Amino acid sequence: MDQSESNGAPPSEMAYLTYNGKTIELPVLSGSEGPKVLNISDLYKELDVFTYDPGFASTASCTSNITFIDGDKGRLLYRGYPIQNLAEHCDFLEVAYLLLHGELPNAQEEKEFVDSIIHHTLVHEQISNFYGGFRRDAHPMAIMVGVVGALSAFYHDSLDIHDEEQREIASIRLIAKMPTLAAMAYKYSAGQPFIYPKNNLCYSSNLLRMMFAVPCEEYIVNPVLVRAMERILILHADHEQNASTSTVRLAGSSGANPFACIASGIAALWGPAHGGANEAVLNMLYEIGSVDRIPEFIKKAKDKNDPFRLMGFGHRVYKNHDPRATVMRKTCHEVLEELGIKNDPLLNLAMELERIALQDEYFIEKKLYPNVDFYSGIIFRAMGIPTSMFTVLFAIARTVGWVAQWREMISDPTQKIGRPRQLYRGKSERKFIPLEKR
Ligand code: CMC
Repeated sequence: MDQSESNGAPPSEMAYLTYNGKTIELPVLSGSEGPKVLNISDLYKELDVFTYDPGFASTASCTSNITFIDGDKGRLLYRGYPIQNLAEHCDFLEVAYLLLHGELPNAQEEKEFVDSIIHHTLVHEQISNFYGGFRRDAHPMAIMVGVVGALSAFYHDSLDIHDEEQREIASIRLIAKMPTLAAMAYKYSAGQPFIYPKNNLCYSSNLLRMMFAVPCEEYIVNPVLVRAMERILILHADHEQNASTSTVRLAGSSGANPFACIASGIAALWGPAHGGANEAVLNMLYEIGSVDRIPEFIKKAKDKNDPFRLMGFGHRVYKNHDPRATVMRKTCHEVLEELGIKNDPLLNLAMELERIALQDEYFIEKKLYPNVDFYSGIIFRAMGIPTSMFTVLFAIARTVGWVAQWREMISDPTQKIGRPRQLYRGKSERKFIPLEKR
């Protein structure tokens, strides 16, 4: 398949690059949405130069049919559907099916998919031994990196990435087992017994039950919280080629097994510039403490000599409102109302911080808006979820996106190992001096 076929349309346009007296043609590729893309894959071969793009700000690393973001207009589409519609009308596993298979399921397809997920929620009993090896105060993301990677030591029958059926089973296992593993991480830190999944519950009810039930009493799942959790999972399910997804693709490009790839994605997600921001937002709000201290922190965020940033603000792609943040804000109000939390000081602080920042020249000029993480922490906290678990919940949701992107990469016939080049500025070759002469 040539690059024009893989992109769906033949390149009707060419860009020209002249360097060192030689001019080459660069095919201009068009996607179904978004800016055009210059295909520079032959650049090194033709002109003996690389491109330099730290942070990949101008680089498309792959073609994809899964998710589209229009950052200027604040649009996010999963397989063509606006995120707001999916968050309002679908449950999480319906969206998971959409991301994995490209179409929303019909009733029969949904039933079969849900069935296969609920029949894979249990984890091998020996996996529970891993938890005992961690300190009780271990960060649950540290545990998740370890236990998800360890799945590859337990499910040898779904490690062959060239076998479509094995890829399918590995995908189902990952999506099904993430809530179980996450809840076990929480239970371990709380010193409580692990709670097994229950097949008659939906994905989010199961997650909440495995986190909060104890064997000595009946746990009744609150439907408003379940709906909120489903919505939060949908909003976090995929976000095109972000840092963790690119990590999963890069790990997968070497032929690594799916469990190892998803563990690498969890590690990349953990950082505060990415998924760790939801935890960092709450810690920041605690640090600010009261509305009268907001100006002091806005000043710090604007100070180039101060590393402090307003967590939950700004995004590499969105230069307008993050559509996920808008849904999240609404969900936050619904959850607090359901739980009878009136005048939550933290929510009031967050809303005032958002109001002040959005009127500030610095944030206006740099197009910094609240992102998905700004309100999610307040909802999680109201649900009784400890701060250290926030990014774990993000990881549960994003596993669907990681798996969908990994599968897309594996089945792309043009796929090759990811191997960026560099601008080397170290020492040129020099003469070795033996130890006694140094
Ligand atoms: N507070 C203060 N200034 C900021 C912020 C912020 N939150 N975000 C960006 N800026 C400034 C930054 O200092 C820079 O200024 P200048 O051009 O004068 O050097 C300018 O805005 C552009 O920032 P950048 O760091 O070059 O932009 P980026 O695209 O590399 O970074 C980001 C994007 C999300 C890492 C960044 O906005 C940030 O650190 N935000 C806070 C962390 C956060 O909320 N992360 C969650 C992102 S959404 C969920 C997810 O993807 O996981």
